[in-house]
Amino acid sequence: MPDPMPAVIAHRGASADAPENTLAAVEEARRQGADGIEVDVQRTADGVLVLHHDATPRRTTDAGPALADRLLGSLTSTELRTLDAGAGERIPTLAELLDTAGDLELFLELKDPWLYPGIAAEVVAALAGRPAVVMSFDASAVRPVDAPGVTVGQLLAAAPDAALLDDIATYAQLVTVDYRAMTADLVAAIRDRWMSPGVFTVNEGATMRRMVDLGMDRVITDRPAMVRDLLVGH
Ligand code: G3P
Ligand code: CA
Repeated sequence: MPDPMPAVIAHRGASADAPENTLAAVEEARRQGADGIEVDVQRTADGVLVLHHDATPRRTTDAGPALADRLLGSLTSTELRTLDAGAGERIPTLAELLDTAGDLELFLELKDPWLYPGIAAEVVAALAGRPAVVMSFDASAVRPVDAPGVTVGQLLAAAPDAALLDDIATYAQLVTVDYRAMTADLVAAIRDRWMSPGVFTVNEGATMRRMVDLGMDRVITDRPAMVRDLLVGH
């Protein structure tokens, strides 16, 4: 029997075709048939959870000199609302995402969580029972997360050794790895520990086919339509 196809998760929304981490990118992901979306969560100076990847708004917005190089966490939600995040979009709040995500699976990355003490618990509270994955590269941020409906994910930039995987298995259900580090042995090692393997960020056909052959549970991509077309033809 062929392996089931991986879930297609839109990276920062469908970020090849809409401004990343915006509600437009979420809608585009839905239009392209994604199963879910990945977004980055940070917190403003006045305590609002927002979707944004970088440490500052310089790259992704029209912020002028007064705001462009300020740390995101030093800006208020009112200041952020003045910024154009591309195509007239605003930097959305997590609450706005939850209002619009519908049945899309949510993969919420806690970005630089050491800057935002307590952010994991705040994200869980905002979910209010809505199922979602809460994940991070920073193990200490997600290790304490244990809530109904919340799946814990560990992100990895490089292949882990057995001891690290053993530790991850004590708190996480998903392990999502840079595709360049993913191998058949690593898939087996993750599954041996009753966790689910996935990869980021796959935007090219040959790599995608390799990930399907490795039996990945999910792929995170900037191009959900391309990946879905490829899966249909696989
Ligand atoms: O979901 C994993 C992936 O998003 C991590 O990389 O830099 O795009 O947040 P980055
Ligand atoms: Ca991310």
